[in-house]
Order: sequence, then structure tokens, then C-alpha cells
Amino acid sequence: MRSDFPILENLSQYLETNNNFSGKKIAWHCHLTDLTALAANVLIKKGAQLILSECNPSTTSDMAVNYMRKIGANIYLGENSCHQSLLEKPIILADTGLALISKYLENPLNDFAFAGSEITTSGITKLRLLKEISLPVININQGQIKTHIENFHGVGDGLIDLLPIITEKNWANEKTSVIGYGKVGAGVAYYLRQIGAQVSVVEKDPIRALTAHYDGFQLSSLKEALLNSDLLVTATGSCSLISGNLWQDTKDGIIVVNVGHSNKELDLETLSQNAISISDISKHLQEFTLRTQENSVSKKIYIACKGNPANVVLLSGSPEPTLIHLTTELLCMNYLLELANNGNKKLPFGENALPIALEQVSSKLALFALGFQLN
Ligand SMILES: NC(=O)c1ccc[n+]([C@@H]2O[C@H](COP(=O)([O-])OP(=O)(O)OC[C@H]3O[C@@H](n4cnc5c(N)ncnc54)[C@H](O)[C@@H]3O)[C@@H](O)[C@H]2O)c1
Repeated sequence: MRSDFPILENLSQYLETNNNFSGKKIAWHCHLTDLTALAANVLIKKGAQLILSECNPSTTSDMAVNYMRKIGANIYLGENSCHQSLLEKPIILADTGLALISKYLENPLNDFAFAGSEITTSGITKLRLLKEISLPVININQGQIKTHIENFHGVGDGLIDLLPIITEKNWANEKTSVIGYGKVGAGVAYYLRQIGAQVSVVEKDPIRALTAHYDGFQLSSLKEALLNSDLLVTATGSCSLISGNLWQDTKDGIIVVNVGHSNKELDLETLSQNAISISDISKHLQEFTLRTQENSVSKKIYIACKGNPANVVLLSGSPEPTLIHLTTELLCMNYLLELANNGNKKLPFGENALPIALEQVSSKLALFALGFQLN
């Protein structure tokens, strides 16, 4: 994979004379996947003391964890992983979902971190709700690469790759719905249309709903989507989007795939409570049988990857968007360490924009890995 798209090697070369990482403690709360392991390798080779914690146990790869431990990363798993990472007093807090930074901010006496970064929409939403933020946090999520390449193409393309693994069927002309028309949902809708599926979009924001309409998608309500779709993809970042009685209103045989940040997007507790039987019909698909309201017949609902973001669990699709995004994330760590090493504490507390120069560097490294060179 790396020889096809050697962006992390290009990054290592770019950082060759750079000493910013040497001996610095970086706490990284993230999906512990094989691609993360490639990025961890770069950080450790540059001399960083890397402390990793898992942001979602369902996406943790044992092989990646073993490899990263072997090359010298400290890795904490389980519920207390953020707390354990922070006991090591890292200088940089790189987050996915804001769990690590939230934990740090819980204790107003904490002052050992120089800055943090956040890569998800869900994490940035949480950050904006906090009253006191005694830490600068770079919003990587709003960077152009994350938005246009990883969120749109990475997730959309990834979904198309994972559908045959999960569903073992062709989706041309089948009825599908995408809930949420942010960049993630828009990418999923675009790629589903590319494979010939009928796609409708459910979006509560009027501007985004209007955009989906002019992008050529049929709009529908959540209720209609649940009643009519064979495949429903959730991409909202909201909690319990499908909950309570809504489960009763679904089409028999519907397959629900979440690509939002966590499995909280679906209220699986209520679904399990209401189910008369639950069975694993394959490694990645669970079947829930419900009594219909008339109570005479039963219907089935299929949930992929226990509601976890399926593309991350299955690591499907092209890894390029994720590798490009990881490159930006590492360049952001480097940028923060450079400021910290110069004693130049200029970043204000709270949300800070990702400097465009970092994205320009990762785009150049990506283009170079693809065989292009800009003049
Ligand atoms: N699976 C992955 O690899 C991956 C990658 C990037 C982001 N994400 C996650 O995907 C989710 C979406 O990301 P985004 O950047 O598109 O977010 P976004 O916030 O820009 O878009 C989400 C959209 O969902 C809509 N929405 C929310 N609740 C809704 C409801 N009840 N009914 C209808 N619409 C509703 C919002 O109005 C919004 O337009 C987030 O949780 C993000 O963290 C996943």
C-alpha cells in the first residue's frame, strides 16, 4: 500500500532536518488502525514519545496495537484511556471526538499541555459548547483537505467498497437514503448515485436540504426514508437519530449503516429491548427481529458493524484520503511543537483555524506521491 502512495515516506523526508519531535510527549486519541500505525511510525522515528488512546474500541486493530507497542508507543485501552494518557503530562493533545481535551479541561489546574487539535465535526461541536477553554485547539476538521477529500471522497468511496462485504448484493436501482447532508453525507449520496442506486436525502438544515435538491437528490423525511429504503446510511453525528418508535416504522429488511462518529447515532439499546430475537448473520451484520405493531407478523432490521462507523471498522475504500489527512494531522503536531519549542505561545485559547500553509504542504506531498510535481 505504501509503495503505491508513499505520502508518509515523503513526509518523513520533508521532516528530515526537523528536530521538533525529539523527546516530546504527544498524546494522540484516535482510531488505532493500521493506517494510524504507519503515521505512529513516522512520529516515533522523529523521536516523539507517543502516547496513544483508543477513541472507539470497535475500530481498534490488535495487530496495529501490537506493532505500535513494539516500536515504542505507550498505548492505553478502555474507558480510562484518556485519564491514563494525561497522567504522562503530554505537551500536545491530538484528539478525535474531543474526549482527551475534555478530560484535560475537567481539571482547571492542568497546565502542562501547550495546545491540542481536533479532527472531527462531533468534537468541534462539543468544543463550541464548552464555556471555559484554557487551551488553544486547532480545528483540523474545517481544513479543506479533511472536508473535501477525506470526509467527502474518503467516506463516500469507502462506503461503496464496504457495501458488498456487508450486504453481498448490488445496489443499482435499489432504494437508499442518506441522513445528513454535511460533507460526509453528501459524499455518500454522490458515490451511491455513481453505482446506480436511487438516493434520497434527509436533512434538517434548510440550506443543506436545498443544496441536496439542486445536487439532484430527492428529499424526504426521516419517517419516509425509514419506511421506503432498503439501505439507510446515517451521517449526522447526532445522538439517537433513530430511536424509540421510529424503529417500528422501518421497512422490513432495511439495512442500516452508520458512518457518523460513533454508534450513539443509533439507539441500539431500544432496538435490542424491543427485539424478539437478535442474531449475527455475518461478521459485520446483526439481524434484529421485531414484532410489528399489529403484533401478528414480524419484521427484520439489519445493523452493520454494531452501529460503529462502518468504513473505519472495515478500513475499506481507498486509504489515500486518510493518509493525506494523517499527514496534515502530523504536520499540525509539528507546527504546534515548533511554536512550543520557540517559547512562542501566541495561539489564543479556544478554537483556532488550521493554517492553510500546512494543507498546502500535505497537498504537495500527496501530489508528489501520486506522481505529479507542481512547478
Ligand atoms: N466515518 C468516517 O470516516 C468519518 C469521517 C469524517 C467525519 N465523520 C463523522 O460523520 C458525521 C458527519 O460529518 P459531517 O462533517 O458531514 O458533519 P456536519 O455536521 O457538517 O453534517 C451533519 C448534517 O446532519 C444534519 N443532521 C443532524 N441531525 C439530523 C437529523 N436528525 N435529521 C436530519 N439531518 C440531521 C445536520 O443538519 C448536518 O447538515 C460526524 O459525526 C463526523 O464526526 C465520520
